[in-house]
Amino acid sequence: MIPELSKPSVSMRDRKRVEEIIQSMRRAGPRALQVISDFDMTLTRFAHNGKRCPTSHNILDNSKLISEDCKKSLKELLNMYYPIEIDSSRTVEEKLPHMVEWWTKAHKLLIQQKIRKDLLAQVVKESDAMLREGYKAFFDQLQEQDIPLLIFSAGVGDVLEEVIRQCDVFHSNVRVFSNYMDFDENGILQAFKGQLIHTYNKREGALLNTGHFQELQDRHNVLLLGDSLGDLTMADGVQNVEKVLKIGYLNDKVEERKESYLATYDIVLEKDETMDVPNAVLRHITGGQ
Ligand code: TMP
Ligand code: MG
Repeated sequence: MIPELSKPSVSMRDRKRVEEIIQSMRRAGPRALQVISDFDMTLTRFAHNGKRCPTSHNILDNSKLISEDCKKSLKELLNMYYPIEIDSSRTVEEKLPHMVEWWTKAHKLLIQQKIRKDLLAQVVKESDAMLREGYKAFFDQLQEQDIPLLIFSAGVGDVLEEVIRQCDVFHSNVRVFSNYMDFDENGILQAFKGQLIHTYNKREGALLNTGHFQELQDRHNVLLLGDSLGDLTMADGVQNVEKVLKIGYLNDKVEERKESYLATYDIVLEKDETMDVPNAVLRHITGGQ
C-alpha cells in the first residue's frame, strides 16, 4: 500500500491494523485530520554524519550566550539525567521527579546567564540544529492541505520557533506548546513562562490546553509523531477522537528499548533520520500516492 513502510528502518507490531487505520483516515480525508508532533529528536535529527545533533536546550548550552562554568554545569546535568530519561528499567512514575529536577535546574542556570532575546536568532543560525531530511515536504504538505500541526515540546519554545522560521517552514497552520522564555523590558531572560513542560508531563499539558483542541473539534483523526514514550500522551486532550496513528522514532539504545516502542507506537522508525514514512503516510491519507 505504502512502499516506504517496507524500508528496513520500519517495524510494526501489527501491520494489518496500521493499514486499516491509514485506510480509515484516508476515507475521512484531510479535513478530519490533525498532526501532533514532538520537536526535539522527532522533527529534528538525532545525528548527522555520526555526530549528535543538538536539542533546543543544547543549542543554548553550546552557544556563546553561556559561560564556560555554566556549560560545564549543564553538561553535568545532561550526563546525570538523560540516562534516567531513556532508562527502560524505570517506570514513568520513577522518572518524574528526576525530570522536574533536571528542567528546574537547567532553567535556573539559563536565567543566571542573562540571555539576550536579540541574540537568539544568531545563535540558532550558528548551531548544528537540523530538521530531518524531507522536512520541507512535511511542513509544506500540511500547509497546502490546511491540516493543523501542533508541536508539543519540552524544549525551549523561542529557540525551536527560530529553527523552524530559519528553515522557512513556520507556516500559519503551525501552533507550538512549549517552555517559553520571559524577558524583562530590556530583553534579558528573567524567567520561564507558565507551567513547566518536561518529557513525561505532556498529558497534563495537553489537558490544560483543551481550548486549542476544541477549535479542532471536527478533526477526529490524529497522526502523532514522537521519539520518547512520554510523547504517546500528546493527543490525550483531543475530544471525540476516532483514530490515532502513532509513529515513533527510536533513535538511541535501540536494542534495549525496541520492545517497549513496538508495544506502544504503531510504527517504529529505527535510526531513521528522515521524514519519509510520515510524508508517505500523509500523502496517502490526503489522497496522493
Ligand atoms: P521532548 O523532545 O520530549 O520535547 O524533550 C526535550 C528534550 O530536551 C529531552 O530529550 C531532554 C532534552 N534536554 C536537554 O537536552 N537539555 C536540557 O537542559 C533539558 C532540560 C532537556
Ligand atoms: Mg523528543
